[in-house]
Amino acid sequence: MADKKAQLVIEGAAPVELPILTGTVGPDVIDVRGLGATGHFTFDPGFMATASCESKITYIDGDKGVLLHRGYPIEQLAEKSDYLETCYLLLNGELPNAEQKAQFVSTVKNHTMVHEQLKSFFNGFRRDAHPMAVMCGVVGALSAFYHDSLDINNPQHREISAVRLVAKMPTLAAMVYKYSMGQPMMYPRNDLSYAENFLHMMFNTPCEIKPISPVLAKAMDRIFILHADHEQNASTSTVRLAGSSGANPFACIAAGIAALWGPAHGGANEAVLTMLDEIGDVSNIDKYIAKAKDKNDPFKLMGFGHRVYKNRDPRATVMKKTCDEVLGELGIKNDPQLELAMRLEEIALTDPYFIERSLYPNVDFYSGIILKAIGIPTSMFTVIFALARTVGWISHWKEMLSSPYKIGRPRQLYTGELQRDIVELKDRK
Ligand code: SDX
Repeated sequence: MADKKAQLVIEGAAPVELPILTGTVGPDVIDVRGLGATGHFTFDPGFMATASCESKITYIDGDKGVLLHRGYPIEQLAEKSDYLETCYLLLNGELPNAEQKAQFVSTVKNHTMVHEQLKSFFNGFRRDAHPMAVMCGVVGALSAFYHDSLDINNPQHREISAVRLVAKMPTLAAMVYKYSMGQPMMYPRNDLSYAENFLHMMFNTPCEIKPISPVLAKAMDRIFILHADHEQNASTSTVRLAGSSGANPFACIAAGIAALWGPAHGGANEAVLTMLDEIGDVSNIDKYIAKAKDKNDPFKLMGFGHRVYKNRDPRATVMKKTCDEVLGELGIKNDPQLELAMRLEEIALTDPYFIERSLYPNVDFYSGIILKAIGIPTSMFTVIFALARTVGWISHWKEMLSSPYKIGRPRQLYTGELQRDIVELKDRK
């Protein structure tokens, strides 16, 4: 992979040759691992131009608006597969055949329940705690139930941890919601599909078991697919960094959930709905666009912009199509928030500020409107994102641990005090 070289000339020193590595597709990278010998480090806060690892899982072409999972375009996966097929693909590198899929679905079904004692963890939270705070806590608590049966250097142990997490996240997410509602938690059912089972645990009660709408189940499954993985985003990088110390995978996923929570990342779907409520009416859009452009105003147009996409986020395009389908199937005409969102998109995409900065709607812009139509409360939106992204997180965790790796330990540019001696307290001014 390294027949090209870069030459670095540092004043007063001999030129340094650095290998250039070429992937299957996408930008070449300059391998700077040997740079330390020159007494220099690279400096790249926010990793704007830094590849942290080599990966075969997902590829994004930000300029073309392309997203591939193991080479398959997200549009095709959303149309022609379901979430568990996409999970199998991300975890194993190939789509399952019918027999492999049946086996995988059956294995996942056998791990959807959580230890009965895990319910006790919920009682420590206030009922009005943010669902992401509870999710962080209870997923981290899973590490207390599997700590002793887990050798992360054992491929079989890594495999069962991955299945356990994919299987249990819907159960835990629904438990988080039921706890916030003061309703009894529902057990998973093995006769339902993954998405149907999640909606069953969310909205059914012991008093009444209603059939799950196939339209809503299909929309839920597609939302899971669209959120499954996305290269080395902030939360995935967090999971890789935590995993590089050898930490328990359940603790690593809890760390990923914490990173996802931020409004600049997975918290944006909840923030979009809050923003639409704040804008309220089309007549206020210009005021909020002006706020978004004002450098002195921290307000950003939530659901717009992306570190990598400088074209449309392909997930947003599929999400918008799904949005139209779900609202149409549910007979929701002229949803005011959807109307407002479409008008906001229209205006923003003709404004030079957004065009110059390639600020297009991202995955979070329309997802909230679908989730709300399905009946999911806004505060649960990022929990849904975490549920769906768990397979991406754990696929990257598995990929990292399956070949030689080092603990992640970035260096820094130190601009603090030079060494100095302490003054006794009695003598300090
Ligand atoms: C996700 O990484 C991933 O893959 C994430 C994700 C995934 O699947 O894991 O895709 C999921 O997190 C999607 C993004 C959800 N976040 C939001 O919708 C929040 C709003 N967006 C912004 O916070 C922002 O666009 C980011 C964080 C998404 C990207 O920020 P960058 O890449 O650091 O870009 P930047 O902040 O440096 O912005 C560049 C310019 C700046 O203006 P200038 O200083 O150049 O004049 O664009 C402006 C920014 O002020 N800008 C915005 C804006 N986003 C960027 N201005 C107004 N509104 C916005 N939304």
